[in-house]
Amino acid sequence: MSSFIRIQNLSVFYPIYGGLLGRRVGDVKAVNDVSFTIEKGEVLGLVGESGCGKSTLGKAFLRLIEPSKGEIYFDGQEVTKMNADSLRKLRKRMQMIFQDPFSSLNPRMKVGSILAEPFIIHKLCPRSEIEQRVRELLKIVGLRPESYDKYPHEFSGGQRQRIGIARALAVKPDFIVADEPVSALDVSIQSQILNLLKTLQKDFKLTYLFVSHDLNVIRYLCDRVVVMYLGRVMEVLTREQLQNPNHKMHPYTEALISAAPKKHPDHVKKQIALAGDIPSPARPPSGCVFHTRCPEAIDICKTEIPVLENSVACHLRGPRLKMTGGS
Ligand SMILES: Nc1ncnc2c1ncn2[C@@H]1O[C@H](COP(=O)(O)OP(=O)(O)OP(=O)(O)O)[C@@H](O)[C@H]1O
Ligand SMILES: [Mg+2]
Repeated sequence: MSSFIRIQNLSVFYPIYGGLLGRRVGDVKAVNDVSFTIEKGEVLGLVGESGCGKSTLGKAFLRLIEPSKGEIYFDGQEVTKMNADSLRKLRKRMQMIFQDPFSSLNPRMKVGSILAEPFIIHKLCPRSEIEQRVRELLKIVGLRPESYDKYPHEFSGGQRQRIGIARALAVKPDFIVADEPVSALDVSIQSQILNLLKTLQKDFKLTYLFVSHDLNVIRYLCDRVVVMYLGRVMEVLTREQLQNPNHKMHPYTEALISAAPKKHPDHVKKQIALAGDIPSPARPPSGCVFHTRCPEAIDICKTEIPVLENSVACHLRGPRLKMTGGS
């Protein structure tokens, strides 16, 4: 059975121009040969440090950024080959919620008009019904009816994010890319918005790609998580594996977990400090991109790119070494 969404060897490179002639002198390899699937109704987390390519990958799904190589399949259709007309239809089924609820809403438009736009663009209902539909949306995301006549600046950050969520829901999408939807909000508001996203996912049977650098958020919401480092997938974990203290994870995931804030001081296990800074994605290290910071790296890690086998891309954790009893 084919997956609802599949990305295959996807790369997104941003060209770097330089020199007197302004020639292309290199590429920022923001997303580099990434493959994974998302099943219908699944919440897939995407986690990794700042700059590892999460937003780039999220935007590539909707072709808001053009992939350089590879394919994206959505419900049997190849997104990477779609023309403008097919893309417009696709965006009725795929939506994005952005990180920053402040800049993603037009400050000169009232909320009623902001939320009416998708109905007009996608001709979702007769004009006479739009106001009623917008008012229903406001109710679904927990905003007061009088919000209809207000401007974005009259709302708090959490309320603005509710408007962003309402705008994404207007087209009744199947799939939502949520790019750090709570990271710009106060901690007290974060859980309200996460709860809202969770409820909406159940009520409307949505599929999410949920981008976050916060493992606690990922644990709360996601069925599986893709761990990225420097444009590449390090491993894919189920929620059970993520919560199982005996599951042997990728050394990078172990370091991320050890760095995450703990709910209780007793939960602090051994801290794994990663040496050095993240290398530049314009000049990623050879072999495993993580080897320059990996506390367990061996020689092969410097030369051979580990393949994602059994959901982990690591010479030390992969099946081959386990079979040979490798050390
Ligand atoms: N438009 C662009 N042009 C050139 N380079 C870019 C562009 N957008 C992003 N990058 C680079 O691509 C890499 C990945 O960026 P991206 O925004 O996808 O990371 P991220 O994981 O979402 O980070 P964050 O957690 O900070 O949001 C970074 O090195 C970034 O500097
Ligand atoms: Mg980002």
